[in-house]
Amino acid sequence: MNVHDSEKMAGILKAEGYAETANAEDADLIIFNTCSIRQKAEQKFRSELGKIKSLKSKNPLLKIAVAGCIAQQKGRDILKRSPHVDYVFGPQNIYKLGAMLTTSGMVCIEDNPDIQYSDLPSERKENIKAWVSIMYGCNNFCSYCVVPYTRGRERSRPSLNIYEEIHALAEKGFKEITLLGQNVNSYNSDTDFPGLLRKISTINGMERIRFVTSHPRDLSESLTRCIKELPKVCEHIHLPLQSGSSSILKLMNRGYTFEDYIEKVGKLRKSIPQIAITTDIIAGFPSETDKDHAETMTALKTIEFDGIYAFKYSPRAGTGAAGMENHIPEGIKAQRLDEILKLQDEITLKCNKGLEGSVQEVLVEANVKSGKGRITGRTRSNKIVSFEGDESLIGGLVNIEIKTAMRHSLEGRLVSQGKS
Ligand code: 5AD
Ligand code: SF4
Repeated sequence: MNVHDSEKMAGILKAEGYAETANAEDADLIIFNTCSIRQKAEQKFRSELGKIKSLKSKNPLLKIAVAGCIAQQKGRDILKRSPHVDYVFGPQNIYKLGAMLTTSGMVCIEDNPDIQYSDLPSERKENIKAWVSIMYGCNNFCSYCVVPYTRGRERSRPSLNIYEEIHALAEKGFKEITLLGQNVNSYNSDTDFPGLLRKISTINGMERIRFVTSHPRDLSESLTRCIKELPKVCEHIHLPLQSGSSSILKLMNRGYTFEDYIEKVGKLRKSIPQIAITTDIIAGFPSETDKDHAETMTALKTIEFDGIYAFKYSPRAGTGAAGMENHIPEGIKAQRLDEILKLQDEITLKCNKGLEGSVQEVLVEANVKSGKGRITGRTRSNKIVSFEGDESLIGGLVNIEIKTAMRHSLEGRLVSQGKS
């Protein structure tokens, strides 16, 4: 979502006559698009912001902007702490960037209730796959999460605006879109999420449709039917579990138990046996016991996700969990995370090995950087595959027989071109 926000900023800047520089020394404007989901991202930003300070004395015209969720949370404090910053604006105020640059300095962090109507001209670096926002904000208030405080309440873009953006992308030759929202299952505009998928499925030339992120609580049977029935909708779902312990899930305010989750996964797999399921896990949420952690490990073994993103719990100011008792020492969080990642590595490899010998439809994306004559793309299940082939295949669909499966990628052989 953050990367796509940067594409929107780049689009606005291009329309204003700005061009991108190869390095920071040549720039008259530097924007930090920040993330505050975990402490680590904040630390990285602080150190980068410090490094850039000296550039201002070399180039008096240089303006520095801080955007994104840290900007939204810290607001004016950023200017107090770092007087070399000129502009501060949050994710709901990207559309003001052009006007802001005509001023000598500004802070824009107010709520924008109409964000869903701002069709910003994204400047995308790639030309095969594109991100498309379908909704903004979040109403869920999971107790660990800062997003509802920075991105505001949930608002859905009208389906026609989304349709038109994707139609224009298809005309430019894009082949795959990923619909973006904190909780796409609660998309609710002139239609619901399954309705939106059916509508954009009719766009000629757009071959693949993906979406992130789905909230397990709102995963409906009509969405399952869409994945099953609509040929363009890829058989992959990112369904963040967060913890295998129902008591931790309750403290997280996730709105489902582990039993609910496993029931939904069972239904998904029954209906779409080849579906790839990936998830997010948080290690060391406040008061997480060894038993809770063991339940997460059991959940991973039981469900066998295709892949996971796992993180140490990171307290975020202003969230419910930050004020809870019994925070877990860093060392234990790190140990639990390590165990989770090691276990999942084995499971991911096992899932990938299961694909050996099968033929997978792959959208070819690029040359392999290190290997001459090799190209790479992704399966419908979003796994990376490399194979020998001519770069004229880039941007097209091919069928690949999977020869060797590794943990992070697959290697295969070109069987045929075109749709499977
Ligand atoms: N600490 C650790 N992980 C977090 N996430 C969100 N907030 C936090 C936090 N405070 C993770 C969740 C979410 C993913 C995008 O980031 O797993 O699904
Ligand atoms: Fe954060 Fe929960 Fe909303 Fe996801 S659903 S953005 S984890 S509050």
